[in-house]
Amino acid sequence: MSIAFIDLAAQQRRIRDRLDAAIAKVLDHGGYVMGPEVRAFEAQLAAFGQAPLALSCANGTDAIALPLMAWGIGEGDAVFCPSFTFTATPEVVPWVGATPVFVDVLPDTFNLDPAKLEAAIKAVKAEGKLKPAVVIAVDLFGQPADYPALRAICDRHGLKLVSDSAQGFGCTLDGHHPIHWADVATTSFFPAKPLGCYGDGGAVLLNDQALWDLMDSLRVHGKAVAQDLNGPVFEHDAKYLNARIGMNSRLDSIQAAILIEKLAIFADEIEMRQVVADRYAEGLKGSVLSTPTVIAGGQSVWAQYVIQHQNRDGLAAHLKTQGVPTAVYYPVPMHAQEPYAHFPRGAGGLPVTEALAETVLALPMHPYMDEATQARIIEAVKGFNG
Ligand SMILES: Cc1ncc(COP(=O)(O)O)c(C=O)c1O
Repeated sequence: MSIAFIDLAAQQRRIRDRLDAAIAKVLDHGGYVMGPEVRAFEAQLAAFGQAPLALSCANGTDAIALPLMAWGIGEGDAVFCPSFTFTATPEVVPWVGATPVFVDVLPDTFNLDPAKLEAAIKAVKAEGKLKPAVVIAVDLFGQPADYPALRAICDRHGLKLVSDSAQGFGCTLDGHHPIHWADVATTSFFPAKPLGCYGDGGAVLLNDQALWDLMDSLRVHGKAVAQDLNGPVFEHDAKYLNARIGMNSRLDSIQAAILIEKLAIFADEIEMRQVVADRYAEGLKGSVLSTPTVIAGGQSVWAQYVIQHQNRDGLAAHLKTQGVPTAVYYPVPMHAQEPYAHFPRGAGGLPVTEALAETVLALPMHPYMDEATQARIIEAVKGFNG
């Protein structure tokens, strides 16, 4: 039987009846955009992520862009982020006219290296061309970045901290979700994400009502919100009074309805993912360059299970012959991608990022992987003599 890299069908079988009923309810009431499910889901998502507030939007990329827009980040601002991440992390920075500055990651957790971040901020300050404004930390492959260290650096230098938790929503550090430290935490509901819907979706978790209102305006074409209506009375629908230039970034009611059902089983699925991760760690001990290291006190949601191997491409080819699908995240780091190559890099370059791009390999990972299937994968990895 073929092995799934991510088995979304197994999850669907578990909750299919509830999904069908939830979707039917939206079809019955007909409020397809910003319907009651959207507000209900935002409240439940905030509660799960230990945040006072959550604002949904169309995808995890917009979720990073919205706070940058709301804070007025723009030309002359430096936004520090890893290069070892998915494109969306740095992509939104030039959208608003600001400059991404790429910072190296730690060799064990693959997340932002706090010491290198601080050195990069100091270098940008010393050069005086750009103003350090924001740090975007990524919870890569599902595990939390070193938030206590990153928060301290942001406080020392007066920067905002964004947690790009597209891969890590649900992860914790010492029991706290990223919003405990970050100004905003963003996530993606792309289907393959640990908490995914059946299309595109995203959200921002936050603790500031005024920022929520501003992003609510921005996600609906800059519509007037309460803070804009203090002056003369506007007698028409406020969405036809535009207080600023925004965008269209809404979550569909059907996706929110699906996410409500998936969120109900998410905590259980995180535990199931941990069981799978533990079996890999035990089974692969000593036979690969590395199995994942999670930060002390961290709980990963295991979006991916990424090993390192000195002959990564040889191992991937061997596994393919054994019917084991794999993926490489990420073969070309962002600073080496042509449209991003001219942006600044932290002092000392990105040697860890460049080395990781050569050795990382993601194995099949999802909560519903049975022991026999996983044993086949482990045996196939061990059977490689490259
Ligand atoms: C780290 C990271 N940030 C942002 C995103 C963007 O999410 P979306 O695809 O929903 O726009 C992704 C998703 O692929 C991601 O992995």
